[in-house]
Amino acid sequence: MSTHKIRTKVGIIGAGPAGLFLSELLSRQGIDSVIIESRSREDIEGTIRAGVLEQWTVDLMNQLGVGERMMREGHFHTGITLRFKGQSHHLDMEDLTGGKKVTVYAQHEVIKDLVGHRLAHGAVIHFGVKDVALAGIDTDRPSIRFAQADGTPALLDCDFIAGCDGFHGPSRQAIPLAQRKEFQKIYPYGWLGILTEAPPSHHELIYARHDRGFALLSMRSPEIQRLYIQCDPKDDIALWSDARIWSELHQRLETVDGWKLTEGPIIQKGIIAMRSFVCETMRHGRLFLAGDAAHIVPPTGAKGLNLAVADVLVLSRALEKFYAKGDTSDLDGYAATALARIWKGERFSWYMTTMLHTDDAASPFEHRIREADLDYVVSSRAAATALAENYVGLPI
Ligand code: FAD
Ligand code: DHB
Repeated sequence: MSTHKIRTKVGIIGAGPAGLFLSELLSRQGIDSVIIESRSREDIEGTIRAGVLEQWTVDLMNQLGVGERMMREGHFHTGITLRFKGQSHHLDMEDLTGGKKVTVYAQHEVIKDLVGHRLAHGAVIHFGVKDVALAGIDTDRPSIRFAQADGTPALLDCDFIAGCDGFHGPSRQAIPLAQRKEFQKIYPYGWLGILTEAPPSHHELIYARHDRGFALLSMRSPEIQRLYIQCDPKDDIALWSDARIWSELHQRLETVDGWKLTEGPIIQKGIIAMRSFVCETMRHGRLFLAGDAAHIVPPTGAKGLNLAVADVLVLSRALEKFYAKGDTSDLDGYAATALARIWKGERFSWYMTTMLHTDDAASPFEHRIREADLDYVVSSRAAATALAENYVGLPI
């Protein structure tokens, strides 16, 4: 079978938030790109993941003309609730941050909006590709070999490769291990996430610390709630009957003042493990890593998707400068610029995770420190402001 040869400026591996936003941002500057994605369109548009968008991510979607459905169907909250020792404490994010909001709009809806918009504007996205291999990343003519969905071998020649292929993709692995500077922390917690057909029990998100473990109440629509509970990351989902899930949710979320969680049929459930990870080597020759390909955060701070979009905003501006003026300075500075913000996202995600989860291996002293941390946040405007400005998103 003869090889299908394709030429573009930027070859993008992965149609997650990083890859799709990058393609959209580049097209605005007249810079061609081609996306290759290993999963099908239906699969990426149906995978349940993140839910919270930072204020500037919302603003960016609107600027790019892909925010219409989000503005109609998203949930815009002025704050969140922190719950511990059976008491609720409201943090008014809008007041603490000078007007920024908390937006709940599911990641797969963002994906649908971006894929639809990209394809309507003539973008090329190859779904269902296999055997992706990067070559020539140390040269100025890198390329990506892959098999198209129908099995036809393809060769994508480009000026640059953007590795937007998530934590398990091939891009980071294409950088020799000896040249990668990586940092990692694995947590002893997992999250069991469910979707349930029941109207939201509360109009905003509730993050709860409880002796039995963390719990989080979120939502997807006026009919569907999204809920998470801390569990053992090695737990088999089969051990978690619906009755057991509800029992834990009731115990961890309910308050002394009689607030009640509404139940409904559970329509989806799954367990995720948690890690913090940074590969500081975000550039190797003509390969640039962005999003989960370069860094992972535990989900408690709702940062992962937003960090991915921030990376590609920096990368798109650097590529724009290169194509407009032949100036490589921002490409050379890409990793340093992106990492300054990434490490703050890593810090915040670690802080929220540590403060809100219960760790059987932690000493009684550490438990008290975590409770003091929460008490401080709800009793000091300075501490609440620090949490709020990170939660709604630090400046780009
Ligand atoms: P991905 O979304 O992982 O996209 C990578 C893409 O590359 C995938 O589509 C994958 O199929 C494709 N790919 C992989 N290998 C190949 C290959 N060989 N060839 C071609 N394509 C390939 N973040 C938030 O900001 N807010 C939240 O509220 C939040 N909540 C979360 C809740 C949960 C339960 C989970 C699991 C995550 C959450 N996150 C949250 C994190 C967020 O989902 C990720 O950080 C985000 O998806 C990263 O985007 P990305 O584009 O970098 O990577
Ligand atoms: C959701 C996910 C998060 O990680 C979070 O911190 C808040 C909400 C969600 O999926 O709705």
